Amino acid sequence: MNPLRSLILAAAGNDTIRRVIATAPVSRDVVRRFVAGETTEEAVAVTRRLVESGLAVTLDYLGEDTTDAALAEQTVQAYLELLDRLKAEGLSGRAEVSVKLSAVGQLLDEELALTNASRICRAAEDAGTTVTLDMEDHTTTDSTLRILAELRTTWPWVGAVLQSYLHRTLDDAVRLSGDGSRVRLCKGAYKEPDTVAFDEIGEVDRSYVRCANALLAGTGYPMFATHDPRLVRIIGERADHHGRKPGEFEFQMLFGIRPDEQLRLAQQGHTVRVYVPYGGQWYGYLMRRMAERPANTVFFLRALMSK
Ligand code: FDA
Repeated sequence: MNPLRSLILAAAGNDTIRRVIATAPVSRDVVRRFVAGETTEEAVAVTRRLVESGLAVTLDYLGEDTTDAALAEQTVQAYLELLDRLKAEGLSGRAEVSVKLSAVGQLLDEELALTNASRICRAAEDAGTTVTLDMEDHTTTDSTLRILAELRTTWPWVGAVLQSYLHRTLDDAVRLSGDGSRVRLCKGAYKEPDTVAFDEIGEVDRSYVRCANALLAGTGYPMFATHDPRLVRIIGERADHHGRKPGEFEFQMLFGIRPDEQLRLAQQGHTVRVYVPYGGQWYGYLMRRMAERPANTVFFLRALMSK
């Protein structure tokens, strides 16, 4: 792993650094480059703007690693309110939600996470939209895939995320490439040991292409989450090879990252879904974005110092 990335991800887990950064007078516009806002209202406003520009959306209520059932409940309530609003505003045809199971109780008890995720799925069904389960660090992968399988017995459209940096992912991609399956393929954003994950970026990219081929060869709906221009080009070529037309797979990118490319792909007829995080718990999310790209870190530090 790149030393800067490793350092930032390690710092993300350090309580003192967390306190200093999370309480620093970071202006709203710095965080706002990557986060839609703190309230449902702000999230819905950003969603409307993106949808009106031709993009689809998946919304993430920020929060993770909850070890408090009351906080997990608060997260569920936030999703229920959001789904209600998306439906009322006529946006649920183009906007779904992404859920981190650790934010709804996975670390406390798998059963609790399943119950809470089921409540969100029921609300999504009522709103006429879908849910995708985000994937977190490798210690949660089996549990997340178990919960996915359980949810899919009632809501076959529940999506999962697979991370190409994990050695296991090609097998998971093949297993999840069947009818009705919705899989978001990404490189992976957590600090993982080399016993379970590829360390070298070239390996991660090659794994991404192998997994993409497995998903495109199947009968499910692949969702390719990457900003990497090389991978976007390769996915386009592999999709042609597998006879997949635009609309039979989609591209996904993060809010605030390569917005021009998002619009360019949408103008070519592709479905492009923007991952829009919102809520007060932006710290872990922002640290992962900084770890991915030194330019994001420079942007953030410069804004911090200019305050
Ligand atoms: P990477 O960061 O390797 O960058 C490759 C190239 O892309 C760069 O060299 C540059 O050319 C271009 N690029 C990247 N960032 C840019 C920028 N800011 N500006 C301009 N060019 C840029 N992870 C996870 O573990 N679990 C999850 O559930 C999810 N969910 C998720 C959803 C969506 C929609 C996305 C897009 C990503 C995730 N991720 C994730 C994060 C993912 O695993 C990964 O960490 C990031 O997407 C970064 O990897 P990239 O593939 O974008 O390329």
